[in-house]
Parts: sequence; C-alpha cells; structure tokens
Amino acid sequence: MKSTNITWHSGQVTKEQRQGLNGHKSPVLWFTGLSGAGKSTLSVAVEKELFERGIRTLILDGDNVRHGLNKNLGFSAEDRTENIRRIGEVSKLMSDAGVMTLTAFISPYRKDRELVRELLPNDEFIEIYVKCDLAECEKRDPKGLYKKARAGEIKGFTGIDDPYEAPEKAEIVVETDSQSIEESVNQVIKFLEINGYLD
Ligand code: ADX
Repeated sequence: MKSTNITWHSGQVTKEQRQGLNGHKSPVLWFTGLSGAGKSTLSVAVEKELFERGIRTLILDGDNVRHGLNKNLGFSAEDRTENIRRIGEVSKLMSDAGVMTLTAFISPYRKDRELVRELLPNDEFIEIYVKCDLAECEKRDPKGLYKKARAGEIKGFTGIDDPYEAPEKAEIVVETDSQSIEESVNQVIKFLEINGYLD
C-alpha cells in the first residue's frame, strides 16, 4: 500500500439499493481455465442469455482487457497476479454498481483467485471452472498459440511450460470437451436461477 493519508468516503446509495433498482443480484461469474477451453465463448453466450432476461451485465475478457487497462502487463507470474488483482478490484466495483460481471481470464494461480473471492461477500464470487483437456485445447488452437508455444516461439505458455492450478471447490464445473456450449450455458443459468441471483 503506497497511498497514505487517505480516508474512505461513503455515499448515500447502497449496493443493495442499486441491485434493487436493477431487479437482480450482482455476483461475479469468474470463468477460469486453459487458453482455448472456451471461457470467452461461454461468457459471451451466458451474457446473451442474461441480457435477454433483462439482467445488466459486463464481460471482462483477458485478451480485451490486456489491450487497455492491463496493456502494461505481460505473462510472468507477477504480471499475471497483478492482472487478476486489478480485474478482481474492477469486478468488485462493477458488483457495487449492481452489474453482473462475467470475467474470462486463465487466472492460473489458485491463490490469486482466492484473493478475489475474499474481496467479495461470500456468495458473490462464483467460480466457474471451464474444464477442457489440454490435448483438446491444443487441437482447437483457435489463435495458433499452442503451435507457437510447442515450437518455442512463445515462452511460459499456460499448460505447456507454465502452470495451471485447477480449482478444487469451484461452484460450477463445465466440461467443454464433452458438453455442448448450450448445455454449459444452461448449467450456468440454472445455477443462477436456483440460487436466487436472478430475482
Ligand atoms: S492470465 O494468465 O493473466 O489470466 P489472460 O487470461 O489475461 O491470462 O490472457 C490469456 C490470453 O493471452 C490467452 O488466451 C492468449 O490469447 C494470450 N497469451 C499470450 N501469451 C500467453 C502465455 N504465455 N500464456 C497464456 N496465454 C497467453
């Protein structure tokens, strides 16, 4: 913490009031998984479904956020940690604004994801493990990055020569190598419905 002499200033409208105005809760849907597992695809499809139900949403996507807010970060362990810390803080702000936020980041380190979980109230961090075999991700290789990583043109690529720590207690696990996108979307929407997030 470098900032000193700072004081928290409270507003007169609460998060609960903003949620009430919107007519739904504002949890963070945290999609995590290997590159090519389907995080972005799934978050886009889930957002569309939520939008059609009148839910206010925002997607924060790794590749997109790294074009702007996080353009000064690379893929070292430190930079990935800072990437996730910032996204965690932005997600918290969005949640305070009453907006349901969907994040699509590899977020390979368990401790980084846990820090985000701790930033938010208990039931407002929903970890969604987008599970897919490395071999299948490599086969899909939508951006041609696995090929480059195997050829040694990219160093420290997640799953090849950089770690991915799978969640141990994710709220939702979708298996994109055996389920259709539609099935995975339904699984997420069902979870939100059953647990009262859409009321
Ligand atoms: S994270 O590890 O910090 O969470 P993030 O989700 O923001 O990663 O970005 C991952 C995306 O960056 C991948 O989908 C891929 O397109 C690209 N990328 C570029 N270099 C790497 C790398 N070394 N490891 C993983 N992804 C990379």
